[in-house]
Amino acid sequence: MQKILILDFGGQYNQLIARRVRELQVYCELRPHTMTLEEIRRFDPIGIIFTGGPHSVYLPDSPRPDPGVFSLGVPILGICYGCQLLAQSLGGLVTAAQDASAREYGKTDTVFDPSCSLFRDLPEESVTWMSHGDYLARVPEGFRIAAHSAACPTAAICDEERRFYGVQFHPEVRHTAFGGEMLRRFLYAVCGARGDWTMADFKRRSVDALRQRVGSGRVLLALSGGVDSSVLAALLSEAVGRQLSCVFVDHGLLRKNEGDQVEAAFAGRSLDFRRVDAGARFLRRLQGVTDPEEKRHIIGEEFIRVFETEARTIGKVDYLAQGTIYPDVIESGLGQSAVIKSHHNVGGLPDFVDFKEILEPLRLLFKDEVRQLGRELGLPESLVARQPFPGPGLAIRVIGEVTEEKLRLLREADAIFRQEMARAGLDRSASQYFAVLTNLRTVGVMGDGRSYDYAIALRSVQTSDFMTADFTRLPWELLDRVSVRIVNEVKGVNRVLYDITSKPPSTVEYE
Ligand code: XMP
Repeated sequence: MQKILILDFGGQYNQLIARRVRELQVYCELRPHTMTLEEIRRFDPIGIIFTGGPHSVYLPDSPRPDPGVFSLGVPILGICYGCQLLAQSLGGLVTAAQDASAREYGKTDTVFDPSCSLFRDLPEESVTWMSHGDYLARVPEGFRIAAHSAACPTAAICDEERRFYGVQFHPEVRHTAFGGEMLRRFLYAVCGARGDWTMADFKRRSVDALRQRVGSGRVLLALSGGVDSSVLAALLSEAVGRQLSCVFVDHGLLRKNEGDQVEAAFAGRSLDFRRVDAGARFLRRLQGVTDPEEKRHIIGEEFIRVFETEARTIGKVDYLAQGTIYPDVIESGLGQSAVIKSHHNVGGLPDFVDFKEILEPLRLLFKDEVRQLGRELGLPESLVARQPFPGPGLAIRVIGEVTEEKLRLLREADAIFRQEMARAGLDRSASQYFAVLTNLRTVGVMGDGRSYDYAIALRSVQTSDFMTADFTRLPWELLDRVSVRIVNEVKGVNRVLYDITSKPPSTVEYE
């Protein structure tokens, strides 16, 4: 399989670069810029991308690659900081933009030279996404200028002979009108990619590798019902079905009919599927608890206890399978950031079960690739195309104490919202949407009588990475329909609110 190496210089869009390359069906990995020349050689890339980053290349401590990387004969694309790094390393001059007008942030009209391989057959003028305070004042020998904007005379440079390219803008960001096409040209026209990264191939290779590795051993998987662990269950069942035990802990905090859907998806497969209905147990532990962090910790711990009990009845396990995916791997390699919420990831289980090794067959896949793999494995669309659902489930969407009655109200309201979103054809375009049961009770009038019932909040967001998000501009007619249906059909609710805050300052979930 051909590989692209993305050297990480700390830019905020780095994951996005990797996703775009994979979307173009070329395998890539994001690795730290400290990778040695020997490691790069062993990785054997067909091309290298230097990412952006927050530093200035002319400062002594700014991050740099091993200088030998320029002599490998492998094509290089430098993006933003990566472009400046490429230029400076090869004899160019990078300086801080002296006056504010030379700095560029945001959408910028840019003019391209179509004779450069990156821009061939693309419009000569289009919008790019810029974000830089430094600029390239002198182009290194062998390079020529391949794009400019009003404020930046060197928006792109290229040396076709050595196959080195630098762009000051961010082609990985959707705001760059032809960014994907530019990356495609780098991968296919410059690096000679064949597009051999497909989920069908990945599935075949993974099934073979898992059979080899597991041999006649026994595998245990904690199935949360989320996309990642469901796809992993399907992959393992295809590879080593008879040696696999899946423990699905239904904590009673799932959405309407969700537990049954998960069970149905695995019912026909030849594997040991165990659904543990532990709703009553979780509710008992949550009784009287109102603090969001306390709820999360209780659910995380209880999940482990239930799983542990079940695992003991299964007996000796050789491998524990976890649904770790690539963003988890990338993020755990970065610096510590403040804990806003302690995410309960049921994949992040144990050191308590007696097992030899951990299997993480999805650790190199992005979420959209996991979904694609799920389709290859024949999982139903209702499971594969699911929006993200937090491990603690509806417990963090019922504000305040969680009770059976409140869960019932929320499940019904949420199901109505989801139904209407699907009916309006918006279920795929919104990144995540759900109902929340607030602990606000207000006065209403129903028929001729007074009501004093709960308010439901509806939340729908647009985001590419869930780190930041904006609320979805839902049509009034849709909100109207959902509101009318909820107050009519869900007894105990007399008010519906729509949340119009972005993240930050809010978060996607309420707790
Ligand atoms: P927040 O609320 O932090 O959510 O803006 C960002 C994304 O993460 C999901 N989320 C969770 N996922 N366990 C998970 O597996 C959790 O504890 C958890 N809390 C939030 C949330 O649904 C959104 O997609």
